[in-house]
Parts: sequence; C-alpha cells; structure tokens
Amino acid sequence: MKIILCSIAILLASILNCNSQTSLVAKKGTDKKWWKEAVVYQIYPRSFKDSDGDGIGDLRGIISKLDYIKSLGVNTIWLNPIYSSPNDDNGYDVSDYRNIMKDFGTMADFDLLLKGLHERGIKLVMDFVLNHSSDEHEWFKQSKSSRTSPYRNYYHWWDAERVKPNYRYSLFDVNHDAWKYDSVTNAYYLHYFSKKQPDLNWENPKVRKEIYDIMKFWADKGIDGYRLDAFQFASKDTSFPAFPTGFENNFVPYYAMGPHLHDYLKEMNQEVFSKYDVMTVAEGAGNNYQDAHDLVDADRNELNMAYAFDAIDLAKMEGYDFIKFKETFSKWDSVFANKGWLSIFLASHDQARIVNRFGNASPEFRELSSKMLSTFLLTMRGTPFIYNGDELGMTNAGFEKITDYRDMSTLNEYQYQLNHGGDINQFMKRIQFECRDNGRTPFQWDDSKNAGFSTGTPWIQVNTNFKYINRAEQEMNQQSVLNYFRKATDLRQKNPALIYGKYTLLDKSNHDVYAYLREFEGKKFLVLLNFSSHQAKPNLKMNFARSKVVLANYPNPSSNGVLAPYESIVYQLN
Ligand code: GLC
Repeated sequence: MKIILCSIAILLASILNCNSQTSLVAKKGTDKKWWKEAVVYQIYPRSFKDSDGDGIGDLRGIISKLDYIKSLGVNTIWLNPIYSSPNDDNGYDVSDYRNIMKDFGTMADFDLLLKGLHERGIKLVMDFVLNHSSDEHEWFKQSKSSRTSPYRNYYHWWDAERVKPNYRYSLFDVNHDAWKYDSVTNAYYLHYFSKKQPDLNWENPKVRKEIYDIMKFWADKGIDGYRLDAFQFASKDTSFPAFPTGFENNFVPYYAMGPHLHDYLKEMNQEVFSKYDVMTVAEGAGNNYQDAHDLVDADRNELNMAYAFDAIDLAKMEGYDFIKFKETFSKWDSVFANKGWLSIFLASHDQARIVNRFGNASPEFRELSSKMLSTFLLTMRGTPFIYNGDELGMTNAGFEKITDYRDMSTLNEYQYQLNHGGDINQFMKRIQFECRDNGRTPFQWDDSKNAGFSTGTPWIQVNTNFKYINRAEQEMNQQSVLNYFRKATDLRQKNPALIYGKYTLLDKSNHDVYAYLREFEGKKFLVLLNFSSHQAKPNLKMNFARSKVVLANYPNPSSNGVLAPYESIVYQLN
C-alpha cells in the first residue's frame, strides 16, 4: 500500500522562509473559529455498524451509535463517501453525487443522520471526490459514447490516431498505466487512480459548474464541511508533456498543484464556501510549505486547512525515524504559527492502524501506547482527526492470505507484482503491515458474533482480537483506552491553550521522548510522551515535578523525571 499511499505523500521540495513572511501579519492563527476547535472523528461507514444484516455498515447503523459518538467528546464527523457508487474503490468512484449508495441506505436515512448529529451539537463534514468520477457516472457514459458528445470534454481523452500519449503513472492500475484505451471511440482516457475512476477535466467550466452545484446541493441540506479528496491532482497541463524517466517513483511534484489549482479553489470558494459557514479541508498540501500556506491562508480565500502526509509516511515496517517525526510536526507547526491552520492526524482509512505504526501493538504495550498516541493527537496545535477504532486501540488484522484482502489497489498491485516477477513473500509482509484494509476491519463493538458489527457475513473479516478489544469491555473499565480518550478530548475542549496555544518543542534530540509546551493567555501546559518501550528521561531545564498532572496514562505517573515505557503525562504549569 506504500506504493499507493506514499503516493499521496507530500514531498517537501523547498523550505520557504514563511516565518519572516508571516511575522508581518497579526496573530491570525489564534482567530477563533469552530473548525479550529473541532475534534474530528472519521467514520468509515462500510465498517462502522451494519443495521440490516447484509454485512456492510450503513447510515442507520451510524444513527444507532450517535450517543456513543457524542460520548467520545468529539464534535465533528467526517464521513467517507456515501454517494451512489459501484464500489470499485469503496465509494471513491461516484456514479451519482446527489444520491446515497444503496448499501448505505437512502436520502431519508441521511436526513435523519444529519438531524441526529445536529441535535447532539455534532457537525458533519462530507467527503467530495472531485478529481475523478466513476466510469459508471452518466457523464462518463455519455462522454465515452462518441467523440462529439457534449460530455466528451468532461474527461481527458486522447485520440488513438495521434502519437501515443506520454506515459502517466496510475496509482491503482494493474499495469500502473493511467491511459486506458477505449475502442468505442478509438481513444484513451486518463485515470490517475483505477481504470474505473476517470479523471474529470477541470479545465471545462461546465464541469466546474456541475461540481459547485453538487456542493451547494449538500450545503443546502445543512452539511458543515467538505473534505476535498485528492484535489491537489485536479489541475493538469492538458498538453500532457513528457515527464522524466522514473518520475513515477516520486510523482507528486509532477501531479500536484497543477497550473490552475488555486484558480479553481478561489472560484469554488466564491461560488460555494463563502456562502455557508463550512469547514474545508484538502487531502494533500502540495509540494512544499508555500503550497500548503497558499491553500489555507485566510486572506487568499481558498480553504481552511489541509493535511500533509510527510509525518504519516515515516512509518515503515522496520520502524521510523523518531527525531524526524518530531522535526516534521514542529516544522509544520512553525510555518502555520501565525497564519493558516493545519490538521493533526496519524491515521485514516488510507493507513494501517496507528498503534501498529507509531505505537506498540504487543499485549504488554498496546493500551499504554494507544493512550500515549491519543494524548499526542489531542494536545497538538491544529485540528485533530481521529480515525474510528483508534479510540479503542484497534490493531492491524494483518491478513496472511491475499484472498482475505478487499482493497482493489492492493489486489491490483499483487497482480502487478505477479506479472512482473516481484517478491510475493516480501509483498505479503509489507501489506500485512501497511495495507489500508488493516484500518478497515469492522468496528469492534462487543465480544458477540462479528464483534457486534453485523448479524450477516461482514464484507471484510473482523479482527480476531475482538474478543478482548471491544467497546463494551472498555466501557466497564475506567482505565480503558476508550475512557482515557474521553478524558483527553475533555481536557482539550476545556482548555483553549491546547487548541490555540503556542507550541514549543523541548529536548529535540531526545530519541525516545517527545516533549513540548503549549501556552495561551497565561495558561501553560507541558506534554511529555515516551514513544519507546523502555524507560526514558527527558532532559528539561525546568522544574515541573510539583506541577499539577492533568492527564496521565499510568495510574501513578512518574514523579522522578524518568518516564516509564510509553508513558504520557500532561502537566498544567500554572
Ligand atoms: C483518496 C482517498 C482514497 C482513495 C483515493 C482515490 O486518497 O482517501 O481512499 O482511494 O483518494 O479517490
């Protein structure tokens, strides 16, 4: 999955001196906004809760769990796509943007869900897949029917009698080829993702108008925000010039932030966002800090925030560079300290489980390290995004057989490896660690059949550890990962310093401990996180031993300055 998901990784090509730029500007980072105060809980609907026994999670399932969601202390939900879709890529291939996927329910269910969320003071952010549609969308069906179709220019076509188009790498294609030949009109169409996800032609003003109308349709229903899926790839140089050989190994600089991307976002803002009180977040933050800044600079009227992948992508099967991890978060923080805003996240439906990648999933340390990671996510500056199941410390399923995997991109990559003499054992090891199906197994509600997710056969197997990792068990245990998570969200919501406060990295060369301060309006917090499985001592030139501990993952937090394995402590210093 690395192949795919490093894909979306952001490569920091240049480090621009944004600090000097931003110091001229008033403290815009502390302008209060609801979306800065949001704790976003991402729900993967297919795997959250099945209400009708077909083995697929659905909207009524989510509705039945609204009180649970509320109890987490989160105040915003991000739902992965729920629109009509043939599900080549689990909803990221939309065939009708104004309808609900049959597996998930009906528009009446959606209206009920939105009402239930709003009644509980929870906002809803929807996922908008705008770089591509499904090949089963009416636009594409028309587009491919004839070269003279009024929909022809909704997509990128290349007539076959011309010289072959320059190679474009496809992230999900079984041959890695983004040009797919179609005999109906003797032409190739472009698909950066799978062949069932043709790229929309954003140069066409009609396409843009259609999309803005769709976005308004949902805003008029009352949704509170938009996550723009893969949008940094939407603008392309449509002459499709040749790229250097091997560009596919590092394709983001070639694909992201095309010539008109900012124009499209400005137009989208004017046509849609400016008319509603919505949160807007882009997947991907461009190729460098300046790109990211330009996307979210409030004065430019584009987006509210973006999320970058460079910290997330550090996680490797062999481990990760912890110093780099701290540096990456710290650098991103500094760039947005005065202006603009970021998201803080370590997992989504596109990654394996957080505890396997950044913590320790062994029985000894799973709970401690999960709590430590929740502490991190909920005490950094930036809007935290929490992926469902991480509040329980759910782990990778690590399926051993390829037939247990469901993710199309993994299955295509498996085929590619087979066709090209790849090392299949190595490939299987890699996907056990990093395939995104690891994060997509059914939510573990209790220890009954199928973890209480479904009475039918789940679309993907339940992780066998549901007998002891499940919500019901954790509700009964005051010390559970779940109850700790609730304390952490509560602490954040009650303390603006943890939302808006200045972040200062301490003891930056410490190989085990992440230590930082958060300060705002006279309040100061010290966060100490031991990311290692051994004792570790932060080297701090301050006396905090007598300070008040406001959150800790050990019943008796360390008081001698030495942190126990995966220990996390938050002190209030004044
Ligand atoms: C984004 C989504 C991912 C999807 C891809 C294609 O990266 O997060 O799940 O497969 O876009 O739409």
